[in-house]
Amino acid sequence: MDIKNSNYKLLMENDDETESLGLSDSRNGITIIAAAAANDALGKDNKLIWHISDDLKRFKKLTSGHAIIMGRKTFESMPNALPNRRNMVITRNKDYIAKGAEIFSSIEDALSVVKNDSQPFIIGGGEIYRQSMALADRIELTRIHKEFDADTFFPNIPQTKWTLIKEKKLLTTKSDSVSYSYLTYIKKNK
Ligand SMILES: NC(=O)c1ccc[n+]([C@@H]2O[C@H](COP(=O)([O-])OP(=O)(O)OC[C@H]3O[C@@H](n4cnc5c(N)ncnc54)[C@H](OP(=O)(O)O)[C@@H]3O)[C@@H](O)[C@H]2O)c1
Repeated sequence: MDIKNSNYKLLMENDDETESLGLSDSRNGITIIAAAAANDALGKDNKLIWHISDDLKRFKKLTSGHAIIMGRKTFESMPNALPNRRNMVITRNKDYIAKGAEIFSSIEDALSVVKNDSQPFIIGGGEIYRQSMALADRIELTRIHKEFDADTFFPNIPQTKWTLIKEKKLLTTKSDSVSYSYLTYIKKNK
């Protein structure tokens, strides 16, 4: 299977799925959303490493209608901007142009123009996650219970700063190749 194409097909398609995934609750704010392996692996060679269609559907469901803030490399890892979302790309390149996306020179600049969005999402990759840990209110993490060879990693989530408020454990992909959990963290004292 071409993981890159099948992943992004799922992220882009407009399906009619109306099933509630039980995702809403009143706490939101700036939200980091990521899928990380047991060894914090996120990606390799500017690609995702696995294909978990339910996780991609969940990503689409959660982020649709909201701003999605990403690093230039993550944007370039996708064939197109993602539909039904405000695509915002962070780069130091002042001449950078990205079809379907707005360009910002810092995460803070991007966040400053989405103050009317109740839940702007930080969607990666590794560099942007690392710099966003201090800014975010919430983390929606899919933890894959297997280690992968990678060149990009999710940062440590210190227990002193974050509280795990929700855990949906040990879902398994249809092919039974990997199991994973959905974890929701909120920042302490925010
Ligand atoms: N598993 C997941 O949930 C997930 C999610 C997203 C991405 N990924 C994976 O993560 C990998 C990409 O992550 P990455 O860490 O290599 O790159 P990245 O975070 O997507 O992008 C890094 C780029 O962002 C820009 N940038 C970073 N900090 C900046 C700052 N303070 N000010 C201005 N611009 C800044 C720079 O762009 P310029 O070089 O243009 O200046 C930098 O090269 C890929 O493998 C992708 O598939 C995984």
